[in-house]
Amino acid sequence: MKILAIETSCDETAVAITNKEEILANEIFSQIKLHKQYGGIVPEIATRSHINELPYLIENAIQKSSIKLKELDAIAVTGGPGLIGSIISGLTYAKTLSTILNKKFIAINHLEGHALITCLTNKSIQPPFLLLLISGGHSQIIIIHKQFKYELLGNTLDDAVGEVFDKVGRQLKLEYPGGPEIEKYAKLGNDTKYIFPKPLIYNKNCNFSFSGLKTAVIRTIKKIDLPIKKQDTYNICASFQKTVADILIKKLLIASDKFTEIYKDKINIVISGGVASNKYIRNKINKHFQHTKFNIDYPPTKLCTDNAVMIAYAAYKRLSEGYESTLKFAPRSRWNINEK
Ligand code: KG4
Ligand code: ZN
Repeated sequence: MKILAIETSCDETAVAITNKEEILANEIFSQIKLHKQYGGIVPEIATRSHINELPYLIENAIQKSSIKLKELDAIAVTGGPGLIGSIISGLTYAKTLSTILNKKFIAINHLEGHALITCLTNKSIQPPFLLLLISGGHSQIIIIHKQFKYELLGNTLDDAVGEVFDKVGRQLKLEYPGGPEIEKYAKLGNDTKYIFPKPLIYNKNCNFSFSGLKTAVIRTIKKIDLPIKKQDTYNICASFQKTVADILIKKLLIASDKFTEIYKDKINIVISGGVASNKYIRNKINKHFQHTKFNIDYPPTKLCTDNAVMIAYAAYKRLSEGYESTLKFAPRSRWNINEK
């Protein structure tokens, strides 16, 4: 089954072509340099850029895959959640392509893409497994009971973890996005120099709250005499990153207990989304779980952040089970993973 997939939910324009589980093309245009000067994503600029870049990415993907448009079986696209203008641009393109080419059309939940991609890159991971999804828009813990059956164990009550990395980065005058910058500077810092709060940590559920942590870090930054010394930046980055890792570990431990109550012998935990590319956080989580029964797995870095391969793969799984969308599908800025 040959699928062309489009992902434009946020600030990456991405196109992939796959044939069943084989990746034939994976094209990504990152808009980071367009948004950098504003310190965050400007939705209007994102939409315009998706519209500009999509034709070139599709052309490149077709060339690299050596697949002719008429050979495709389906067009897949992210239908949400995300920035509405960005989603509309990809969705409209995909609907038009499927109409002109007379191909099947399927709209995919972006979160399902992040959730399932590890099943493609590591064949030993199959449902049921536990998923920690940490990105710029989401911080969720989900049980994937079986194909397309999701249970949301926990969610953020306020900011997403990646969003907080970006906001702390902005306060420290680091480049956008803050996540990779904070990881880089944290390597030079002392991660116990500052003690930051860990909201909801003693709460026995799997929900997160990151806005209190964000406020505490920003307050600390504002108290430092200007100009902020490099070492202060490094120490704040390291201490903040450690606090995030501690929170994630604590909530994962609660979630893994809940998972074990249902699936005694199942051991796989998958961590996906942009923040999952952070090596410090990976190492800390791995270390914590190394003497437990749990096996922790991550998609390769390139497939952790937004990409269209994950949309193509989820589409392949769904189309194989007979799912299809109609052209009436409306873009969704919000779309829970367990919602139809
Ligand atoms: O999954 P993703 O590419 O897009 C969304 O669906 O949101 O995630 C982007 C987020 C941004 O907030 C970015 O700062 C964060 O992932 N991120 C990181 C790292 N790389 C990306 N956060 C911490 N450490 C990183 N190395
Ligand atoms: Zn994402």
